[in-house]
Amino acid sequence: MQTPSQTLWKSRRGFLLAAMGSAVGLGNIWRFPYVAGENGGGAFILVYLGAVAMLGLPLVIAELAIGRSQRSDPVSAFATLEPRGRFRWVGWIGIAACIGILSYYPVITGWVANYLARTLALALPWNEADAISLDFSAIAAHPGQALLWYGIAIAVATAVVAAGVRNGIEKISKALMPLFLLLALGLAAWGLGNDGAAGALAFIFRPDWRFLALPSTYLAAIGQAFFSLGVAMAVLITYGGYMARDQRLPRAALTIVAGDTAIAMLGGLILFPAVFALGFDPAEGAALAFVVLPQMFAAMPAGIGLGIGFYLLLLIAALTSIIALIEALVAVAVGRWRIARKPAALAVGLAVFMIGLPATLGYGLLSRGDPGTATWLDLADGLTSQILLPLNGIVLALMVGWVWSRARSEEAAELRDAPWRHGWIWSLRIGIPLSILAAMAKAFDLL
Ligand code: PHE
Repeated sequence: MQTPSQTLWKSRRGFLLAAMGSAVGLGNIWRFPYVAGENGGGAFILVYLGAVAMLGLPLVIAELAIGRSQRSDPVSAFATLEPRGRFRWVGWIGIAACIGILSYYPVITGWVANYLARTLALALPWNEADAISLDFSAIAAHPGQALLWYGIAIAVATAVVAAGVRNGIEKISKALMPLFLLLALGLAAWGLGNDGAAGALAFIFRPDWRFLALPSTYLAAIGQAFFSLGVAMAVLITYGGYMARDQRLPRAALTIVAGDTAIAMLGGLILFPAVFALGFDPAEGAALAFVVLPQMFAAMPAGIGLGIGFYLLLLIAALTSIIALIEALVAVAVGRWRIARKPAALAVGLAVFMIGLPATLGYGLLSRGDPGTATWLDLADGLTSQILLPLNGIVLALMVGWVWSRARSEEAAELRDAPWRHGWIWSLRIGIPLSILAAMAKAFDLL
């Protein structure tokens, strides 16, 4: 199936770093800590780890296997999975999820870029704790500011995708991901060293078990796991399509999943201690990274350095994820509509800019003067992570479990040992669909 002109990653390491760049994102550093905070801390983390291992890993393997065996864009891949070509629509669900995320993800990235620029310019009011939290609403609600940084983030990601899989995505991932890891480790060590560390560790390791009885905990964990791993969003199929034949697929999947999970834990170690040190509520929500941390930094002598490190960390995480999402769309434009990569990237970049406008302006112009009650962003996040992703996870699992021939899928997944093979296929056939359905039905009160 592979044509000579088929784009492939230049090296195995390049693929792993690009895939990690896609998986590790705002989901790990910004979203994971606050979702964990809202859903019972340690109890949520346990359920989350279960969801990652039992649902996330098999799906990551499945998507990489689809991508590499079909070697086509994430929509066409479903048409060739089965002889009669009836399942292209499954690919479109993934694209819908991808667009759903792109409708707000770059907006948050814009805030991050803005914070970084301000920190660099020492423009954040570092010594006035309250002024900083006000600053967040000011930043998010100022249409000019919001649009400027949002536009820059999309332009950079688009330019990288336009430069190509090897010369754009792989190169930038190789350059940025090691720096990202260093920053994450350094900041987590700082977190563990500060006053709130004891409170944070207690929150993580002395879980509030009552949350285990709440259905919403499970759906939130599944949604967060899929979001963070980048499952069910066409991206892993796309990146898997560029993966070399001789790279071991299960090991690559495991590396991506373990790496992403480890980084989410580091994200918690960076944020929670600050939350406890300042006496905030860990269930504070989305503002943790933008309101709580700057206050923490403001109170420290080396605060500016920490601030620069933290927002740079977030920016790298976010950019490499936007790049992956844009690449999935560009792959469809190139693969299905035969548009050349550069114009395709330009068109996708412009489209992404347009679809994100409601979320960008949702805190300002479109919020009718009340920045607190935003917004499009929450709506888009809720819809994608709690509905579109889990549903698409079910469809994907059924597709690979029942529709794709078992011999082909197992070969594509390179699962050689019988226990793993059986475990994988039956989790796709029954375990994953049922557990997602149960979590959704319970959470939405249908059972
Ligand atoms: N996984 C990314 C995160 O955790 C988000 C993302 C989703 C990136 C889908 C690519 C594809 O932030």
